[in-house]
Amino acid sequence: SLVLEAIETKKAGGELSDDVIRGVVAGYTEGSVPDYQMSALLMAVFLRGMGYGETLALTRAMAESGEAYSFPDCVDKHSTGGVGDKISLISLPIVAACGAPVAKLSGRGLGTTGGTIDKLESIPGFSVDLSETRFRRQVEEVGLAIIEAGDLAPADKAIYALRDTTGTVDSLPLIGSSIVSKKAATGAGHLLYDVKQGSGAFMKTPDDARELAGLLVRLSESLGIRASAVVTGMDTPLGGAIGNALEVRESAAFLRGDPVPKDLADEARFVAARLLQLKGIENPEASVEKALSSGAAYERLERFARAQGAAPNALENLPTARTTREVPAPRTGYVSGLAAIGVGRAALALGAGRQKKTDEIDPAAGVELLAKPGDPIEKGAPIARLHGDREAERAEGLILEAIEISDEPPHPAPAILEHFS
Ligand code: URA
Repeated sequence: SLVLEAIETKKAGGELSDDVIRGVVAGYTEGSVPDYQMSALLMAVFLRGMGYGETLALTRAMAESGEAYSFPDCVDKHSTGGVGDKISLISLPIVAACGAPVAKLSGRGLGTTGGTIDKLESIPGFSVDLSETRFRRQVEEVGLAIIEAGDLAPADKAIYALRDTTGTVDSLPLIGSSIVSKKAATGAGHLLYDVKQGSGAFMKTPDDARELAGLLVRLSESLGIRASAVVTGMDTPLGGAIGNALEVRESAAFLRGDPVPKDLADEARFVAARLLQLKGIENPEASVEKALSSGAAYERLERFARAQGAAPNALENLPTARTTREVPAPRTGYVSGLAAIGVGRAALALGAGRQKKTDEIDPAAGVELLAKPGDPIEKGAPIARLHGDREAERAEGLILEAIEISDEPPHPAPAILEHFS
């Protein structure tokens, strides 16, 4: 059979043809290829790798396996996932205010990685479920619309679930094709990838992050999408808020001109400027500053929220937790580390995320960081504020484990590591 031949070829380190790849992907999606054969093939790919041509064929086959949209004039961004990453909520209203339209299909969070859809749903009245007609109209009229991704790239969904249970997730060609297949199906013509690197990210080392960034850009360009990538740090959470409504509040605060931690402000500005650059807009940095200082970016966020059903002033009336507690610093010194994974787990324990897909989240729950790496701290002073009442004791323990305090001032890593175009 076709699959058995593919398994034997890959086992011996050979190359799969476009037709074989297309046939296997179609067969697996419609159910004629069983899980055990697909698992064997994925493991052979994991061990032997895939060349660029094979990776592109796999990407294309998965992208074409379900419904696909086309928004050639629009920009979009994709983050490989991080703790406290609300860069989409901030950068997309900015670029929309600068004249670059955004049509985005997003997902929900799972584990310690948040999803833009959950964050938006914490805004009272906000709907992530628009008809295609309404979605298109909003992109035209407001320049910004974000809905929940439905049945995009169903082949990727099925293959990803199998990889998750067969030890074949962390393969560069499989990760690259998985990400780009979904983005290709959402159809934006200009795409920025934010590849997170560090202890709290999929990619732990700079080399791995760089390699993935290069692959994402190359695959996208081969599919006719103008793409570039940034590599950004994820050893520690981004900004000061982790949790859905807390992150929307921090994003709105930044767009309104209120102070937020420097790592977040720098990265949001940088990503917005790179998106404008992809779209061919001149002087992107100056445009970003103008959209911020004039209030146009904040107004765009408000218009977008209203268009998707939010009540007037919803951004000032986000849900708040009934109970909060502060975590005191265990000693005096400088915050030298605040592990993203630990803080993410604390937010999860408080109810900000799902351990499994069917869990209910508490939109108000999460962690507010009152100190960031590099800051001096006194013993007993609050280092974090926990919002929510689910497993608050455990969350406090996780925060205390995530904190490192040193006697000497540390040198926190920069938030933005590299840009590839
Ligand atoms: N994210 C994806 O969408 N796919 C992968 O394979 C890994 C991360």
